[in-house]
Amino acid sequence: MGVPGVDFGQYHHSTREESEALRQRIALIFSRAFSYLEESRFSPSSVVDLGAGLGFLTHLVLSRFPRARATLVDTFSGHGLRGASVDRARANMEALGYAQRVDFYVADVRSLPFSDASFDMAVTSLVFHNLSDGVQRAFSEMQRVVRPLGYMLYGDIFIELERHRDYLSGCRVMQKYEERLGEEMFYTLYVIRKDPD
Ligand SMILES: C[S@@+](CC[C@H](N)C(=O)[O-])C[C@H]1O[C@@H](n2cnc3c(N)ncnc32)[C@H](O)[C@@H]1O
Repeated sequence: MGVPGVDFGQYHHSTREESEALRQRIALIFSRAFSYLEESRFSPSSVVDLGAGLGFLTHLVLSRFPRARATLVDTFSGHGLRGASVDRARANMEALGYAQRVDFYVADVRSLPFSDASFDMAVTSLVFHNLSDGVQRAFSEMQRVVRPLGYMLYGDIFIELERHRDYLSGCRVMQKYEERLGEEMFYTLYVIRKDPD
């Protein structure tokens, strides 16, 4: 990624180098999902990044979909990404030239300050596994704010969505990409489409 003045941060339990290496692998996985969306002739105009941190995933989305605007949501409470703050996220987005295409909300993904069907697409990476409680609430909020026939790109470690079918009522898993990150760790990206009304 390496753009001067841009720092997407250091993940909990990882060195700076490990965090960067992880992001490079995650970028490749998301790129496959973006190709799937393009093949499906889906081009989002409005995207919400849930637990956006310093904007790494937002950057992937905005660079791939030039018409899109993004809303970054995070509590910035320090869990998961050391030293993250809304000011640092904003500085990254400005350095990448996205100042006119982004909005920021300091909010909890389990209680989103948006009306129903506000976005064409929601994206999230490395966030929901950290929610000790309220994971189901976060899923239901993610679905609520996406419009019918919109998409959710849900990337995470540790959560096997198949075991939680009730999280996915009202939507359909279209693609699943899985990559081994370590001996016992897998990163899985689900491409989920919300059902029509
Ligand atoms: C490991 S970081 C991932 C950041 C970013 N998605 C990325 O891939 O670089 C997890 C992020 O989730 C945020 N987070 C954790 N719990 C949250 C919650 N309940 N609501 C909103 N954000 C939350 C943290 O503040 C942190 O920025």
